[in-house]
Amino acid sequence: MKFPIYWRSLPIGLLVIFVSLKALAHGDVTPHPIDTSGLKPVGQTSVDANPYRGNEKAVAIGAEGYMHNCAGCHGLNAVSGGVAPDLLALARDCVGMKAAEQAACLKESDEYFKDITLHGKKNGEGRFTMPAYGSVFTDEAVWAVKSYLDARTFEMNR
Ligand code: HEC
Repeated sequence: MKFPIYWRSLPIGLLVIFVSLKALAHGDVTPHPIDTSGLKPVGQTSVDANPYRGNEKAVAIGAEGYMHNCAGCHGLNAVSGGVAPDLLALARDCVGMKAAEQAACLKESDEYFKDITLHGKKNGEGRFTMPAYGSVFTDEAVWAVKSYLDARTFEMNR
């Protein structure tokens, strides 16, 4: 039996769909360094709490860094499309807290954020689904992105 012509192009069609879905799911995964030259250097000793909290310049630099590095998977404007976890959830619970409590809560989310961003995360099969940015991000870059995410978190939960 002879297949109609369009059946023969099915595998190619499927391949095209598969490749574009894969590209969509992974976005641009090449880590890009973030230029943080306008920010006060964090210093030699690495810190676990974001030293730029509330710093508008850090928020702007972080927004740009997020766009280039994270948006492909975690969503434009940090609104997750479901491919990767919602990063606005990291500090969401801290929003309504009193000052001292809130500082501790944000510090905890900072530590977690820094660890995962620098070292990445493997899935159950041992494959890195969340890339490690430790070879391209300075501490300043990590905290700029966190400042942006925190600003978005507070903006979304006003
Ligand atoms: C290639 C896609 C991809 C890119 C690009 C990416 N991530 Fe992720 N990220 C993931 C996936 C997938 C997970 C979930 C990993 C898991 O739990 O197995 C994740 C998890 C995380 C987590 C932990 C979230 C949680 O709720 O536990 C943080 C924090 C994070 N990513 C930050 C970032 C930052 C910051 C960037 C940009 C600098 C970034 N990611 C870029 C895919 C990506």
